[in-house]
Amino acid sequence: MFSDIRNENIYKNLVNGQWIETNTKKLIDIKSPIDQSLVGSIQAMSKEEVDAAIQNASEAQLSWRNVPLNERADILYKAADILDKKAEEIANIMVREVAKDKKSAVSEVTRTADYIRFTADAAKSMEGESIPSDPFPGFNRSKISVVTREPLGVILAISPFNYPVNLSASKIAPAVVAGNSVVLKPATQGSISALYLAKAFQQAGLPAGVLNTVTGRGSEIGDYAVTHDHVDFINFTGSTEVGKHISQITAMKPLLMELGGKDAAIVLEDADLDLTVKNIIAGAYSYSGQRCTAVKRILVMESVADELISKLKTKIEALKVGNPLEQDQVDVVPLIDTKAADFVEELMREAEEKGAKLIIGGNREGNLIYPTLYDEVTIDMRLAWEEPFGPVLPIIRISDRDAAIKIANASEYGLQSSVFTKDINAAFYIASKLEVGTVQVNNKTERGPDHFPFLGVKSSGIGTQGIRYSIEAMSRPKAIVINLAD
Ligand code: NAP
Ligand code: G3H
Repeated sequence: MFSDIRNENIYKNLVNGQWIETNTKKLIDIKSPIDQSLVGSIQAMSKEEVDAAIQNASEAQLSWRNVPLNERADILYKAADILDKKAEEIANIMVREVAKDKKSAVSEVTRTADYIRFTADAAKSMEGESIPSDPFPGFNRSKISVVTREPLGVILAISPFNYPVNLSASKIAPAVVAGNSVVLKPATQGSISALYLAKAFQQAGLPAGVLNTVTGRGSEIGDYAVTHDHVDFINFTGSTEVGKHISQITAMKPLLMELGGKDAAIVLEDADLDLTVKNIIAGAYSYSGQRCTAVKRILVMESVADELISKLKTKIEALKVGNPLEQDQVDVVPLIDTKAADFVEELMREAEEKGAKLIIGGNREGNLIYPTLYDEVTIDMRLAWEEPFGPVLPIIRISDRDAAIKIANASEYGLQSSVFTKDINAAFYIASKLEVGTVQVNNKTERGPDHFPFLGVKSSGIGTQGIRYSIEAMSRPKAIVINLAD
């Protein structure tokens, strides 16, 4: 049923309800990070073709915005059901395309189906409001503001490689249910998985042009797309570097951005260390740490540091490392590309040169970086501040809570933090002072459940995601004021 999205191994783009090939005939080969085998080829669209896709989305939105909400929601329910049915097929592509292990890939697709259903439910339960004038001084009851929500127009959704289905759908579903049309520009490595998602929406009955896809290198078509006159809103997830660049070159375009992070796990003297270790291991090493919300540094009280490290080491030794094609559940897989692995290695070597103590790991085979833990990391090391996006975890020992808060807040990032303690007062003291979007008490840093607000402060983002928050971000209030006769 999904066969029309490709011609042999060449994947097409969805534009105006048709799966088309680029006129330029320029292709990008997508090779698996696991073994460099060819997963498929995607189209490198020209700027003219990107322009046509955006124009088409703009025209389609004019009628889509008038489709009743219950009909828009029904299409989302159908898309969710299709994804559930296609979970295995899409996951098999994702395993090869982004080297995600099969269990996590299936879970990404089914989580996406749940996300889409919840989005339809949330949109149907959102209501407008009417605001009387008399609470404001000097006004009697002569005015009522009837406030409804309006779509914004064309949403440019730009997604990263690490959740090619989920972080595309978490932009598309809230956007279209609010009456917008979407142009999806997926990460090049991740495009094929994202095109399967687009097919699910099309098959569910999304009208022509309401979702268009554009593939090609961000470095070639990105600037053109983000500055296009008919793009009304940019919903971007990716690196802080690209996010900052987009915010610099776009003017008067509203942005929703989820960017990088350096999430700290703060471990106090009274923490339940077994619970702490379980969470840090899952938080830091799953999918090789290629998650914005991965635990990316540990700030631990000196008095419990040795015991924590010993327990962490035991659990790291038990992690499954290797090829996700050979086993369904692997914690540490090859990184997305050689450049990513080179960067992680650079951070490790610099830390070692400056005196970090290697507890375990530190080695590499091709793009596979073995799970690595460093003790005695100090604030003059890049590893203390930079986001490796790899399975490497630095430990910084601290003397008291305020030192932990100070180091945590000295980061340019502010996505999430964890605090591990049995003392609720200590947890609240620290949580209230951390400059992040979310603080997790006695849990790993993580985005879900997906209806919670999810946001980064400082260089970690602009605006708030989360199902209702995303619908609100991609719509605006419209006030109609009824002026009553006195
Ligand atoms: P990336 O390199 O920034 O790419 C993200 C997306 O931007 C891709 O689709 C990319 O296309 C596109 N792009 C590149 N240059 C562009 C330009 N000039 N204009 C418009 N789009 C452009 O990020 P990534 O490597 O895919 O993902 C890893 C990063 O994302 C990490 O820093 C991670 O922390 C962050 N992330 C954050 C969150 C969050 O919610 N906070 C979630 C996931 C990931 P190409 O692939 O074609 O270059
Ligand atoms: O990579 C960024 C994702 O938004 C993280 O989501 O916490 O569910 O892995 P997650």
